[in-house]
Amino acid sequence: MGIAIAIDGPAASGKSSVARRVAEELGFVFVNSGAMYRAFAWRVVGKEVDANNEQAVLDLLQATQFECGEEEGVGTVVVNGVDPGEGLTSDSVNSTVSAIAAYPEVRERLVAAQRAYREHCNVVMEGRDIGSVVFADTPYKFYIDASPEVRERRRREQGIVDSIADRDRQDSSRKASPLVAVEGAIVVDSSDLNLEEVVREVLCGLKGQGLSLGAE
Ligand code: DC
Repeated sequence: MGIAIAIDGPAASGKSSVARRVAEELGFVFVNSGAMYRAFAWRVVGKEVDANNEQAVLDLLQATQFECGEEEGVGTVVVNGVDPGEGLTSDSVNSTVSAIAAYPEVRERLVAAQRAYREHCNVVMEGRDIGSVVFADTPYKFYIDASPEVRERRRREQGIVDSIADRDRQDSSRKASPLVAVEGAIVVDSSDLNLEEVVREVLCGLKGQGLSLGAE
């Protein structure tokens, strides 16, 4: 069983870039769990299934195989033999993913795939429920936040159309594994920090918790 570092936070808080850099520093595998929900949303969109029709979504889930692997230290996801690629960040996926991520059966399937990583490697995983559900037992939990204005601006600068406020509301208010800063998580507000400053805070937090850092 490997070590898991959980990094949660709202959309565009910067958690993905932070998790990737922390994983590089430690030589751990970086896994973006949101990409798995996006991969299924991409399939839902591609099959023209109504994301609000729970039964239709669950029927499609039954007919969906996820292959979650790793390439050069980064988690990969293939759906029924196809790599969704750029499709993961399409406008239609952005507007569908929160709806499908709210279904408990969808979460159950993907949480199992997420937990499987730790069976054979050390992992830095980012998402919404990594510290609260997926690796609730890990002592290494972080919550990366940023003000809504800063997050909207970051998405605009990336040229991505994303209804962040809508997704925040849906991701935080759903019954199944809502986004929360769990007790014990180290909260970092990245609004006024650059990437390297946030990475440093996370690495300091890990050191403070006794995790010896490979890069030092
Ligand atoms: O991290 P992201 O914005 O790419 O995630 C896309 C969506 O997936 C997000 O709006 C909610 C869902 N998600 C989730 O419910 N649980 C996770 N652990 C990761 C993402």
